[in-house]
Amino acid sequence: MKTLKTSFKAGVFSAVVFAFAAIAIPVSAGNQVSISIDAKKPGPVINKNIYGQFAEHLGTGVYEGMWVGPDSPIPNTKGWRNDVIGALKKMHVPLVRWPGGCFADEYHWRDGIGARESRPVKMNTNWGNVEERNAVGTHEFFDLVDLLGADAYVNGNLGSGTPQEMAEWLEYMTGDGKSTLAELRRKNGRDKPFNVAFFGVGNEAWGCGGNMKVEHYTSLFNQYASFLKAPKAYMPKIIASGGHDDDTTWTDYLTKNIHEQWNMRFDGVSFHYYTLPTGVWEKKGMALGFGEDQWISTLKNTLRMDSLIKNNVAKMEVNDPKNKISFNVDEWGTWYDVEVGTNPGFLYQQNSLRDALVAALNFNIFHAHAARVRMTNIAQMVNVLQAMILTDKDKMLLTPTYHAFEMYVPFQNATALPLTIANNPEYSFAKTSIPEVSASAARALDGKLYLSLVNTNPNKSVDVDIDVAGEKLKTAKGRVLTAKAMDAHNTFAQPQSVQPGSFNASAKAGKLTLSIPAKAVVVVALE
Ligand code: AHR
Repeated sequence: MKTLKTSFKAGVFSAVVFAFAAIAIPVSAGNQVSISIDAKKPGPVINKNIYGQFAEHLGTGVYEGMWVGPDSPIPNTKGWRNDVIGALKKMHVPLVRWPGGCFADEYHWRDGIGARESRPVKMNTNWGNVEERNAVGTHEFFDLVDLLGADAYVNGNLGSGTPQEMAEWLEYMTGDGKSTLAELRRKNGRDKPFNVAFFGVGNEAWGCGGNMKVEHYTSLFNQYASFLKAPKAYMPKIIASGGHDDDTTWTDYLTKNIHEQWNMRFDGVSFHYYTLPTGVWEKKGMALGFGEDQWISTLKNTLRMDSLIKNNVAKMEVNDPKNKISFNVDEWGTWYDVEVGTNPGFLYQQNSLRDALVAALNFNIFHAHAARVRMTNIAQMVNVLQAMILTDKDKMLLTPTYHAFEMYVPFQNATALPLTIANNPEYSFAKTSIPEVSASAARALDGKLYLSLVNTNPNKSVDVDIDVAGEKLKTAKGRVLTAKAMDAHNTFAQPQSVQPGSFNASAKAGKLTLSIPAKAVVVVALE
């Protein structure tokens, strides 16, 4: 929760050294930027769940934004908006985390089953203190993931629930016998068990999830997780709630002290890091109308994700050398000052070209750490924080972040390839500098070699020579996302101001050079 987070320091930016993305080599003036890819040295698989989403009962993220109910005049399937579902399907959402966030630790699953009209009304104390009518519960959530063709990441209530309540939710969802809970699920309309891919044991236990010390949470994790049982085929991966920002103590302590037992699973730790333009929670910076100072500070702050992952993974390499436990950034993205005139508890913000670059820079970082980072969830899917989609009654628009996710679809389950960037210039403004080019390469499931590139410089294009060891490249074909203004965005009146265009380049005299426009994201297939 925002007030409980520590503000982060303007950390030292280390040249982004990506094992499977970009190795930044110091610039030597006048030299051409060049990228070399070694396609003969396949790295880890980029798990599709790196492209996961997050849908919390917060503001209009679930209600209105996605769920309108079966009786709504807005066209819907089982209550879920057809326009929103259609758009999300096109970006191949692999995984959805639900029901929170902070909301999860006050959520009691029994409130969300059975006849909707009889469900209890609660107040959403975390988010605007509005009525929570529990219209979306377990069955509705699984309708959503079924419609999307996505997997489910259910976050359990450790903060205000009991081990019994958590265990019984899992039994309700996954029981395949004739237990009373499995029969209740059948009575409520679902015969076969639900597939729960991941189950989270609490959220932000250091903050809104209970203000705990890591030692206390670890004991509670052991207790709660010991009773999370499901038939083998339906047993989810169990995720412990981890740390945030600069703090590696949670990752370290959890991975050192939680040991899988015969009756207890432990598959991953979570981690949260939000990108604030100023780095200060009390005055984060605006979503639109910012200057170049906040363009560069936002990108610099987001690039910290690389060192934050590295520092945590370094602990895990010691505590879990066999790499059984995954490191899951299950909340990330931009967090701005709320849009004036909106409910401050709803975390509604516009989304500009800058957000698309933030997304792409994070994707390139996640690819670089794909061996350990096997799941992430951007916060959040619709109408909240760095959203894919914004809605206004029956209208909907796709944000620049949506387009970045959609352009990167070929990277889902692709195999990362090592890549080096030579002569990568610094883009500087005032006293701040960041590398101009970020890149990542992978062999996709369609057999093609894909390259993603980000030009962080908002003022000038950059030419990049591409070389794949042992291959003669002829063409690069794909798409580019850019715009005239740093804060270019889509509105309900002009929903297509920012959208990808085509990007094509051909080799000349055996050399393939890509000209990446200023402030752009490019994804191409190299042939
Ligand atoms: O994504 C919004 C909130 O941010 C989540 O509920 C919480 O986990 C985090 O503090």
